[in-house]
Amino acid sequence: MLDASVSPSRPLYLAYIGSTGLEIGVLASALAATYDANLAAAAGGAELVEKQALRWASEFVGFPTAEGTFTSGGMTSNLTALLVARERAVPGARFDGLGSRRLAVYCSEEAHHSVVRAVEASGIGSRSVRRIGIDESRRMRPDELAAAIDADRSAGVTPVAAVATAGTTLTGAVDPLAELAEVCGPRGVWLHVDGAYGLPAAAAPSAADLFAGLERADSATIDAHKWLGVQKPCSLVLMRRPGGLEAAFGHEERYMLHHGDISNPVDRTLEYSRPVNSLRLWMAFRVHGAEQFRAWIEQTLETAGRLASLTRTHDEFELLHKPQLSTVCFRHVPGGAREADAHNLALAHAMQRDGRIYLAPASVDGHTCLRVTFVNFRTPPEAADRLLEVASELASDL
Ligand SMILES: Cc1ncc(COP(=O)(O)O)c(C=O)c1O
Repeated sequence: MLDASVSPSRPLYLAYIGSTGLEIGVLASALAATYDANLAAAAGGAELVEKQALRWASEFVGFPTAEGTFTSGGMTSNLTALLVARERAVPGARFDGLGSRRLAVYCSEEAHHSVVRAVEASGIGSRSVRRIGIDESRRMRPDELAAAIDADRSAGVTPVAAVATAGTTLTGAVDPLAELAEVCGPRGVWLHVDGAYGLPAAAAPSAADLFAGLERADSATIDAHKWLGVQKPCSLVLMRRPGGLEAAFGHEERYMLHHGDISNPVDRTLEYSRPVNSLRLWMAFRVHGAEQFRAWIEQTLETAGRLASLTRTHDEFELLHKPQLSTVCFRHVPGGAREADAHNLALAHAMQRDGRIYLAPASVDGHTCLRVTFVNFRTPPEAADRLLEVASELASDL
């Protein structure tokens, strides 16, 4: 069965957003499964592990975290943050519902679909998602965001949150966080940073500037199961101020009483029974250290940079955007762009069948292309050259 499956932690799996599947994560998973702790109720050491892993990840990316939690994925982290923001924008909404109140959530045209899904799950309704336009670097436009918030306010609509993306899934663009904080702060709008994919790059000196202003956001998502090398599921949602999680999720039931004024971990999470997924990240940081993670992330950024420069000068390939992080969208255009969409779709499928290098097709500004993301610490830097060789070879047979 495994031989017939695609493993996202193989070094030449470059489709979607893979991972590394660090060996220490396998041991941590086994250890966590052996003990089978449940972070719904007081869980002793497991809580300490989670707290410390949260602190390490926050320090690593430079987000001043007051509280946070591990979740089962970027989707759930984004939903958790949105529910906290909703409760802050409309206190009591968790009890009273939204009635006829009109709310709005803002994100760029290129935000991940999990934001839309989170808005649907939170009862706000995805017709209330305002898709804000992007600039030539594919980043959310702060002026359009300000105008959309102001227009909503004057029309009696309550803005709940703006969701900036720090590393879009399609091209790895990082929205201008400082400028977005400048828009949201004075207007009292919650700023959430969906850094599920890209936020770990804030720790890499060569990319850190892209994340300027991160510390002014209200909350942030990081998927440790993407660019921090550990196995799924392992995501974090970080909050800059304390109290929001409990305001959104706190409760007391007869089967799980609070100890005096001490609540249970489940009072700060959307999920109920939760395994110690944080142990994978805790052990990975403990064994490899932050410096090693930084070096690994730099290496993946360099490989992406190498691929971008190779495609820029190659006569058969064309780059479709200026990569900011480790995602590159490019296409094979020998002798012009005639039938390029169908050709690149066929080429992506041919590469998947061939299996030497695994990637997936995507569409940028209506152009079908080959898309790769480098997040695997085992991907050798020469993968960039190899990728173009294999693509060129397979294209000649189409
Ligand atoms: C920017 C972004 N946000 C959220 C998600 C959803 O994360 P998950 O699949 O862990 O739920 C993804 C997944 O690729 C993503 O790229």
